[in-house]
Amino acid sequence: MTNNNGSKENIYDTNKCRLLRRYPLTEQEDLFLFRFEDSEVAQNWRFKPGQFVQVSLLGLGEVPISICSSARRMGFFELCIRNAGKVTSQIHELEPGDLVGIRGPYGNGFPMEQFHGRDLLCVAAGLGMAPLRSVFLYAIDNRWQFGNITIINTAKYGKELLFEKELEAMKDIATAENIAIVQSVTRDPEYPSLHGRATEHMDKANVDPNNCAVAMCGPPAMYRGMFDHLVESGYDPRYIWVTLERKMYCGTGKCGHCNIGTATSWKYACKDGPVFDYYAINSIPGLI
Ligand SMILES: Cc1cc2nc3c(=O)[nH]c(=O)nc-3n(C[C@H](O)[C@H](O)[C@H](O)COP(=O)(O)OP(=O)(O)OC[C@H]3O[C@@H](n4cnc5c(N)ncnc54)[C@H](O)[C@@H]3O)c2cc1C
Ligand code: FES
Repeated sequence: MTNNNGSKENIYDTNKCRLLRRYPLTEQEDLFLFRFEDSEVAQNWRFKPGQFVQVSLLGLGEVPISICSSARRMGFFELCIRNAGKVTSQIHELEPGDLVGIRGPYGNGFPMEQFHGRDLLCVAAGLGMAPLRSVFLYAIDNRWQFGNITIINTAKYGKELLFEKELEAMKDIATAENIAIVQSVTRDPEYPSLHGRATEHMDKANVDPNNCAVAMCGPPAMYRGMFDHLVESGYDPRYIWVTLERKMYCGTGKCGHCNIGTATSWKYACKDGPVFDYYAINSIPGLI
């Protein structure tokens, strides 16, 4: 039986979704647009930026994937999926019209309402741009709730920069709306634009550290560098949030697969996260 948010009483039951469109973003990642088959689910299904779904292929298994589209879009959602292994390689074989099973949304998501009234800095590295696209689109959809906005999108090589063209195409209108878009690569001398890590481009962020929320997604090394930089620059740690990837199975806090921490201090990444604040990251051993 389906409840209002499209989730089921048996936690492993899925909702059918049809692939409408897919197009390549990079050599490894495609963007997939899905629509719920059941119109009641389509009308009622909601998610928050930073939440994820479990994508299920019958007989093969399922994988957790962040929702990367605007939370305003009803009945449709987009996933940016890397061809990484057993299940994701088969998702990359899907054609428009094919069906998948979807469970979720799961996880806590970014506390976007707590960010209202502040500037917003989004920092992404590699595949981290997938969940942060949803955060960035939320800020654009709710433009009046935020001050200045900056997004810093990085990758090792230009050919790996996710949503590069989409962000470039937004630049003119973004500048007029006090939104700074910074894209940079770290290991690609051929790349015609900016080079260097996110920390090297903080001077391009048009935000006030004293009144800014930060949303980040990338590898642990990026978090360590960014945390030091942000705190030294006066950003309020209460408004520094990151999203983590952990291997997951149930996605609902039942199976224990994503348990992180120690016997006295632990969290389920799927339920308590995958989005954590600066203090959680620094107080729970092994979180990054
Ligand atoms: C909350 C969350 C959100 C995610 N969002 C996205 C997303 O938006 N787009 C996307 O492409 N991927 C995302 N991932 C990673 C994705 O779930 C894995 O790539 C996928 O589960 C691999 O499954 P597979 O069967 O294709 O690969 P497998 O054959 O199981 O594994 C292939 C390789 O991927 C590694 N791997 C498996 N699971 C994970 C994992 N959870 N994280 C990192 N590496 C893994 C394995 O160690 C192995 O090296 C997310 C993971 C989590 C936990
Ligand atoms: S994935 Fe089962 S408890 Fe988190």
